Amino acid sequence: MSQIITITLNPALDKSIVVPELVPDKKLRAVSAEVDPGGGGINVSRALHKLGCASEAVFLSGGYTGKYLEELLLKEGVMMHPLPTKEPTRENFVVFDDEKKLQYRFGMEGPRVSEAEWKAVLDYTASRKGITYIVASGSLPPGVPVDFFGRLAAIAKNLRAKLFVDTSGEALKYAVKEGVYMIKPNLGELGSLYGKQKLSQEEIIAAAQKIITGGGCEVMVVSMGSAGAMLFTANEQYQAKPPKVTVLSNVGAGDSMVAGMICALSQGRSWKEILRYGVAAGTAATLHPGTELCKKEDTEQIFTLLNQD
Ligand SMILES: Nc1ncnc2c1ncn2[C@@H]1O[C@H](COP(=O)(O)OP(=O)(O)OP(=O)(O)O)[C@@H](O)[C@H]1O
Ligand SMILES: [Mg+2]
Repeated sequence: MSQIITITLNPALDKSIVVPELVPDKKLRAVSAEVDPGGGGINVSRALHKLGCASEAVFLSGGYTGKYLEELLLKEGVMMHPLPTKEPTRENFVVFDDEKKLQYRFGMEGPRVSEAEWKAVLDYTASRKGITYIVASGSLPPGVPVDFFGRLAAIAKNLRAKLFVDTSGEALKYAVKEGVYMIKPNLGELGSLYGKQKLSQEEIIAAAQKIITGGGCEVMVVSMGSAGAMLFTANEQYQAKPPKVTVLSNVGAGDSMVAGMICALSQGRSWKEILRYGVAAGTAATLHPGTELCKKEDTEQIFTLLNQD
């Protein structure tokens, strides 16, 4: 059985509320409120669990918010290895305007992490001999060096583990500089990696091929929201477009997609199926409001539809 760990440097307690209408100055009463564990890798672990795939969530955790997050993860049945930080874990906030059916996402920067704290994540990973997949996802909080994922890539190579990185900006550049197994940029992230803001279809293909040929990654999946995604390897290329759905919330779509792909990857499926299962899980996450991730039954249903094309 393959062993999967996810890594989250900047986890969050995700709080989401629904208000009748978002208007200034008035006191707004929430008609529903929810608190969920969040942050890239943590969401990937939660989505993997929903898809029936075991993983261990490794993350930095501090203060009362960190303890609360751990408690929520425990309740969901996600295996975890929290590593302590002196400063408290951040909170994020999502507001859904029920009148306009619009969602507003507010993110916080995250606590300052000390050198000993972020190094503990690298040391713990290095100690995990026999691991098959490492999924590093999300942003880097203040204090963590921008080449963190590059350092992680070097450790993954030593462990002979496959590193999947889903992040953005400079952090992604350093991962690709060291070379990783797989990345999942969205169009904006690929654009900044390639040095161009808006990419045409030809430029997406050229960018993917350039990064793969240059040793930046072995596999790249470019996610394109409602347009689905494209998968590239050195000699294969596939595209998958989801069915038209009523989107209630796109929170966690990217993380669910990553989970879908890791799950399919660990089952030894083909690249075409890995892409389709990822797109299915990403789209499944949009079917529910708030921070809810992909449900297995929705994912399987959309996957079946994609396989009929
Ligand atoms: N509006 C939508 N309709 C259908 N599917 C969607 C929609 N938005 C996202 N998805 C699904 O989720 C996948 C990932 O979405 P997207 O490309 O927006 O990722 P992302 O920008 O990384 O998201 P995130 O904000 O969660 O990081 C898409 O490939 C698609 O399968
Ligand atoms: Mg994303």
